[in-house]
Amino acid sequence: MVKVTFIHPDGRETEVDGKHGDSVMATAIANDVDGIVGECGGSMMCATCHCYVAEEWAAQTGEREDGEEDMLECAVSEIEETSRLSCQIKLAPELDGLRVRLPEDQV
Ligand code: FES
Repeated sequence: MVKVTFIHPDGRETEVDGKHGDSVMATAIANDVDGIVGECGGSMMCATCHCYVAEEWAAQTGEREDGEEDMLECAVSEIEETSRLSCQIKLAPELDGLRVRLPEDQV
């Protein structure tokens, strides 16, 4: 299991257990975490899975995937340096303890 903490815009935190190989988006949906919609199911066609990777985790989650940057421009909330599509972050043992902030709005 890989622990992931979602930080809501109001400061609340939701910690969940994800599975290796699942995306952060799928993990949020599976655990009913508010704030991740994932409308396209993870095919990089919607930007409703936008999240901000906590600065201390940005190196471990790596670079944005090809095409991710373009889709992020469609995100409703402001884009920041650590903005990612959470469907493109796959959980792996080295991401245990990952923290991501959720944007104010997704749609
Ligand atoms: S779920 Fe649609 S881009 Fe991530």
